[in-house]
Amino acid sequence: MRSHYCGHLNEAHLDQEVEISGWVHRRRDHGGVIFIDLRDREGLVQVVFDPDTPDIFAIAERVRSEYVLRIKGKVRPRPQGTANPDLPTGAIEILGLDLEILNTAETPPFQTDIEDDEVSEELRLRYRYIDLRRPRMLQRLQIRSQITRVLREYLDKHGFMDIETPMLTKATPEGARDYLVPSRTHQGEFFALPQSPQIFKQLLMMSGLDRYYQIVRCFRDEDLRADRQPEFTQLDIETSFLSEEQIMEMMEAMMREVFAQVLEIPLHDPFPRMTYTEAMLRYGSDKPDLRIPLELVDVNDVMQDVEFKVFSGPAKDPRGRVAALRLPQGCELSRKEIDDYTKYVGIYGARGLAYIKVNEVAKGREGMQSPILKFLPDEAIATIMQRTGAEDGDLVFFGADSAKIVNESLGALRVKLGHDRGLVEHGWRPLWVVDFPMFEYDEKSKRWASLHHPFTSPKEEHIDLLDSDPEACHSRAYDMILNGTEVGGGSMRIYRAEVQEKVFRQLGIDDQEAEDKFGFLLKALKYGCPPHGGIAFGLDRLVMLMTGALSIRDVMAFPKTQTASCPLTEAPSEVSQAQLTELGIRLRKPPADTTAE
Ligand code: AMO
Ligand code: AMP
Repeated sequence: MRSHYCGHLNEAHLDQEVEISGWVHRRRDHGGVIFIDLRDREGLVQVVFDPDTPDIFAIAERVRSEYVLRIKGKVRPRPQGTANPDLPTGAIEILGLDLEILNTAETPPFQTDIEDDEVSEELRLRYRYIDLRRPRMLQRLQIRSQITRVLREYLDKHGFMDIETPMLTKATPEGARDYLVPSRTHQGEFFALPQSPQIFKQLLMMSGLDRYYQIVRCFRDEDLRADRQPEFTQLDIETSFLSEEQIMEMMEAMMREVFAQVLEIPLHDPFPRMTYTEAMLRYGSDKPDLRIPLELVDVNDVMQDVEFKVFSGPAKDPRGRVAALRLPQGCELSRKEIDDYTKYVGIYGARGLAYIKVNEVAKGREGMQSPILKFLPDEAIATIMQRTGAEDGDLVFFGADSAKIVNESLGALRVKLGHDRGLVEHGWRPLWVVDFPMFEYDEKSKRWASLHHPFTSPKEEHIDLLDSDPEACHSRAYDMILNGTEVGGGSMRIYRAEVQEKVFRQLGIDDQEAEDKFGFLLKALKYGCPPHGGIAFGLDRLVMLMTGALSIRDVMAFPKTQTASCPLTEAPSEVSQAQLTELGIRLRKPPADTTAE
C-alpha cells in the first residue's frame, strides 16, 4: 500500500508520483486548501488537497486526527518561505491526487504531538498503543532496536551463542523477592520466575558451551524507582577460560562499539578503573557519577579529639566516618536551601548536616560562619580548609555517623548538589568499579549477605579469610558504571564445590538448605566445571541513558507502573474460582464479589 515511508520523502523525490499510508497527525483547513500531516513509523510529511479535485477534497474534509489513510500524490517543492528546516521532509510537500480512508478513529485521549509530561503517565500507559505513535517514543524504540542489533553483531563476531534458559524455574537469588507461579500438576508447589539466568548460564559453561549470551527478561519483586522495573531485560553473558581482565576488555570494547555505531560517540579507551574502597571514600557510592566535580574528603583524624561529640564519636568509632564535602560558591545558599538539604540527607538517615560558610579563607575563623565553629580548634579548621581546598565563597558540608550513613547521605547530596547547581559536566564518563568486598553485614537479619550474588568468587588469596575475617574478604566482581548508573555487573564465579559450600555457610545457608535450594548446582560443580565468569547489562538502563529518557518506562514498549501494574491490560487481576480450584489454591480473603465455600 505504499511506495515510500512518509518520513523518507525529500527533494530527491521531486516530481515523482508516490503512494504513502499512515495516520493523520494533524489536519488544517486553510481557506479552501486542506493540509494533512501524514505520519508513519519513519516520520511525517505534509500533503495538500485543493478544491480542483472536488471528490477527493470532499473525502479530505471528513478526515480527522488518527484516521488511517492511503494517499497517492505528486512530490513538489514547498512554496517559497514555507519550508520547515526542522523536519527531514520539510523542503517538500505532496499534492494529493487520490485519497482513501482505510479506517476512522475515535478522538484520541491525547494528541500524538505532545511532550512526555503533558498528560499523566497513567493515561499514556492505559492508551500505550497511541502513546507509542508519538515520534519521540517511536524514536526511542528504534534506538533500542539498533542497540540490540549492534550488541548481537558484536557478540556473534566474538563467538558467543544465543541460548535460551527457562522462565518457569527455581528461585535464583539476586537479592529481590521472587515472582511465584503456582503449579497445577504439583499442587502446593510453585515455580519462581528468574531474577536472572545466573545459575543456568553457569551450568551452560559446565556443559562446555564456552561463550553464551541472551537478551533475556528478568523478574524482581522489589520497590520500584525511575530506573527499576519488576520485569526488565538483561544482556546476559558468560564465558569460560577467560580472565576478568579479558572479560572486561571485551565488554568495554562492546560498549565502545555500541556508542560509536548508534550515537557516533567515542568512549574512553580503556575505561578507567576504581576500587570499591576508593569509590566509597571519594564519592560515597559504588556507582560514582564522574561528571560531577565534587568529592568527599575524610576528616576522621582531625575530629578525633574535638569537643563536638557529634563528630568525635564517629571519628573514633572504627565503623564511623566524618567526611567533608566542599561546594564551590556555596556561600550563596540561603538558610532555607541549607535546611532543605538537611532534610534531604535525613532521608538517608543523617541526623544533621553541619556546614561552614567560608567567606574569606585568609581570615581564618573570623572569615567563616557556622554553628559548629565554636567546637573546632584553629588547627582543625586550618586542616579542613587545606584538605578540601576551600576558597573564598565556598561552603563545606559535614556528615558524621556510621560510615554507611555518611556515605549514603553525602553521596546522594553530592549528586543532588551537582544537578541543583548546574555542575554536571557534559559527556560520557564510564568506569569499572572493582575489588568489591564479598559480603556486607545486614543489620536487620544480623548476618552476612552477598554484595553481588552467592556464586561470586572470592579472590584466590582471600579464600582463607572466608571463615576467619569475612569482612576483609574481597571478590572478583566488577561493575560497569556510566554517568552514575550501574549499567552492568559481573564477576568470576566459584567453580569448586568446596568453596561454594564455604560461601553458603558464611551466608548462613546450612547444608540442608544448600542441598534443597542449590543441590543441583553443587552436584554439577563436581562433574568437571571450568573456570568461568561473566556479566549482565541492564539493557533498559543502557537505552535510557543513550536516548536521554528520564524514566526506564519511556524505553520499554509496555512497562509497569510504580506499583507494578499494567493500566492497559489491568494486570494483575483476579482469577476465576475454577482456576484457583484447579491449582489447589484457596485465597485467605476471597474477592468481594464471590462467596466463600
Ligand atoms: P545484577 O543484579 O547486577 O546482576 O543485574 C545486572 C544489571 O541489570 C540491571 N538491573 C535492573 N534494571 C532494571 N530494573 C531492575 N529492577 C534491575 N535490576 C537490575 C542493572 C544491573 O547492573 N546475574 C548477575 C549478573 C552476573 O553476575 O553476570 C545479575 O543479575 O543495570
Ligand atoms: P546541634 O548541636 O545538634 O545543633 O548541631 C549543630 C550542627 O551540626 C547542625 O548544623 C546540625 O545539622 C549538625 N549535625 C548534627 N548531627 C550531625 C551529624 N550526625 N552529621 C553532620 N552534622 C550534624
